[in-house]
Amino acid sequence: MTFQKDFLWASASAAYQIEGAALTNGKGPSIWDIYSHVEGNTFKNTTGDVAIDFYHRFLEDIQLMKEQGLQAYRFSIAWSRVLPTGTGNRNEEGIAFYHTVIDTLLAHGIEPIVTIYHWDLPNALQEAYEGWLGREVVDDFHAYATLLFEEYGSKVNYWVTMNEQNIFTSLGYLQKLHPPKMNDFQAFLRANHHANLANAKTIKTYRAMGFHGKIGPSFAYSPAYAKSCAPEDVLAMEDALELENWFWMDTYVNGAYPILAVRKIEQMGYHIPMMEGDAEILQDSRPDFMGVNYYQTTTIAKEVEASIKPSGNTVQSTAQRPTDTWYRVSDNPYVQKTDWNWMIDPSGLRIALRRITSRYQLPTLISENGLGAYDTLEADGSVHDPYRIAFLKAHIEAMEAAIADGCEVLGYCTWSFQDLFSWLNGYAKRYGFVYVDRDEENERELKRYKKDSFYWYQRVIATNGQER
Ligand code: BG6
Repeated sequence: MTFQKDFLWASASAAYQIEGAALTNGKGPSIWDIYSHVEGNTFKNTTGDVAIDFYHRFLEDIQLMKEQGLQAYRFSIAWSRVLPTGTGNRNEEGIAFYHTVIDTLLAHGIEPIVTIYHWDLPNALQEAYEGWLGREVVDDFHAYATLLFEEYGSKVNYWVTMNEQNIFTSLGYLQKLHPPKMNDFQAFLRANHHANLANAKTIKTYRAMGFHGKIGPSFAYSPAYAKSCAPEDVLAMEDALELENWFWMDTYVNGAYPILAVRKIEQMGYHIPMMEGDAEILQDSRPDFMGVNYYQTTTIAKEVEASIKPSGNTVQSTAQRPTDTWYRVSDNPYVQKTDWNWMIDPSGLRIALRRITSRYQLPTLISENGLGAYDTLEADGSVHDPYRIAFLKAHIEAMEAAIADGCEVLGYCTWSFQDLFSWLNGYAKRYGFVYVDRDEENERELKRYKKDSFYWYQRVIATNGQER
C-alpha cells in the first residue's frame, strides 16, 4: 500500500467562499465584504454575501461529507466573525459557531483542519492602519490566532496559519486583483514581511502553549519549468524560483530570507523592512509540514513570444512588475488547459512534492488540488463530471509516485467539497463534489446535488486510494 494507514483523504474550503451570512450575528465586515461590492472588482460583480450559505447549512454539508467518507475537512475561520473589529471585543456568537462546526465534524468522524487566515482581513484593521501594511497587524494576528488556540486547540490537530501568503500579497499589492488593489513592489515587501512575522510568532506560540498538533502555512506552489534549454531561459527560471518560491518557503523553513532573492530585490532598488528583533522572531519557527496548494505549473522565459491566452471569464491584471525584466511567464505547448487556461499538469504535483522534500526534508500536506470547470445539472439531478474525475485521478497517481520517490505526504485535500464562490470567477467555475444550485444572477434555493465525482472519491477513500 502506498498510502499510509492514517493518510487523510480530505477536501477544503474557505470562509468567505462558503459561509455567506456576511454581517449576521455580530460579524464585522472583512476587506472582501467591502472590495466585492465595488463595481468591476469581481467577475459579474459577484460577492460572498450569501455564497453557498454554509453558515446555515453546515449540518447538511457535513452529513454529505460523512456519507462520502471524508476523513478531514479543511475550512477557514473568518477573523471578523470572531473579532468583529479584528482586535478587542469578542463576538461570542461567532466563536460559538466555529465550536459547533468543529464539534459536528468530530461527531461525524471528520478531522477538522483549520485555516487561521484565508484572505478576509477585518476591514477595521484596514481602516485603522492599512491592514497588512501596518506593523500592528503582526500582534493583532498573533492575538487572534492565540484566541483560536485557546478556544479550539484541544479539539483541532491540524492548523494552517495562512492560506497562500504569496498569492494574497502578490495579488493585493502588485497585481491589483485583490484588496487593497495596489501595484507597489515596496508595499508588497512590507505586507509580506509582516505576514512572515505573524506566521512565525503564531507557530512559536502554538508550540509554547503545549499543543501536540501540527501547524504550517499553505503555499500556492506552481513549480517553474524553463521554456527552453537556452541558458538565459534557465537563468530566468532560477530567478523565478528565488523570487516566486524560495522567497516564501525558505523563510518559513529556515527562519531567514534566502540570500539570492534578497540580493535581487536590492538590485531592483527595494528592500525588506527588517527592524531590530525581526530576525529573532523569524528564527526557530520551522513548520511541521509545508501545505501545498497545487493547481498548475508555470513556464518561464527571459523573453516571451507566446503568452497565455487570457480566459474571458475572469478578472485580469495588466499591472507591470519590476521582476518582468528578469523573467516572464510563457505558454506551455506540452500540456492541456482548463476552460480558464490553467495548465493541466499532474507531473507538476510530483515535481512540487519532490522539490520540497529534497530542499527542506519536511512532510507535505496537499492542502488544495482540483479542477475548476463548467458543470451541467441534468433534469434528474445528476451531474456527470468525468473531466474532474480524470483530473483528480491523474493527480492522485502523481502523488503516489512522489510518495514512492520518498516524499512524506500527510494527506490530500481536494478543492473543493461543495461548489463555492471563486474570488475572481464568480460561481460558474465549479470545483466541488457537490453541485450547489446557484449562479451569478440567481441564488435559487442553493440545493445540493451529488456529482459523479462524489461517488468516485467515496471509492477512493474507502480503498485508501487503491481504487480510482
Ligand atoms: C486558491 C485559493 O488559490 O485557489 C482558493 O486558496 C481558490 O481560495 C482556489 O478558490 C481556486 O482559484 P479560483 O481562482 O479558480 O477560485
